[in-house]
Amino acid sequence: MTTGLDLKYALRARVLHWTIAALILFNLATGLLHDPLEDVINLIPVHKSVGLTVLVLSVLRLALRLTWTAPPYPATMTAFEVGAARAVHAALYLFMVLMPLSGWIMSSAGTRPLAWFGLFDWPKLAVVKDSALHVAGREFHEIGGWVLLVLALGHIAAALRHHFVIRDGILRRML
Ligand code: HEM
Ligand code: HEM
Repeated sequence: MTTGLDLKYALRARVLHWTIAALILFNLATGLLHDPLEDVINLIPVHKSVGLTVLVLSVLRLALRLTWTAPPYPATMTAFEVGAARAVHAALYLFMVLMPLSGWIMSSAGTRPLAWFGLFDWPKLAVVKDSALHVAGREFHEIGGWVLLVLALGHIAAALRHHFVIRDGILRRML
């Protein structure tokens, strides 16, 4: 018998989910390790290129999200659990766009060119150094990194709980 639990996310949703997830986890790590590793390696050029890639992929994913419906949740989930899942997903979508956008704003005020993996120049936004927009971008990027980290850890913990404790097949829909 086919139940809602047998349904998977569309292939394009799954491919985009795991690609963006890997790139974001990489960027959270390189962003947070940038200061302590500064004397050993400069992680920022690759951090910027990966982040700009996340921006493009996240905008594409959000646009496509409007064209697909997520598989229905099992009846065993309470209204609170469904609401919490939806709220965290919406917040993740928001930060998937705002984190790279704030980085782009912040880096546009600097003197260094933005080169995507050294292959081509990424356009800079018209941001004046120390302007309100530059400061807002920098502040958002710093605090937003921690918010995104907490959201991602909560999201991952929930996915693992569904898989190993509740065993309701939620994780398999995304595999
Ligand atoms: C997935 C997207 C991104 C994530 C999750 C992310 C995350 C982070 C985190 C957690 C930090 C450390 C916080 C801090 O010390 O301020 C950081 C620093 C930084 N990020 Fe990002 N970032 C992303 C995209 C970008 C983009 C697109 C750019 C620029 C084009 C960028 C440029 C920078 C720079 C220059 C720093 C160093 C700030 C400093 O130490 O002065 N980031 N990022
Ligand atoms: C920072 C990295 C990640 C981000 C930004 C992220 C983002 C998202 C978003 C926005 C959704 C909602 C999909 C939709 O309905 O449109 C989602 C679903 C999902 N994610 Fe992630 N994810 C990340 C990492 C992970 C990891 C590491 C796992 C597994 C351990 C995971 C497991 C899942 C599962 C199982 C779903 C489907 C949940 C459901 O149907 O309610 N995610 N993710």
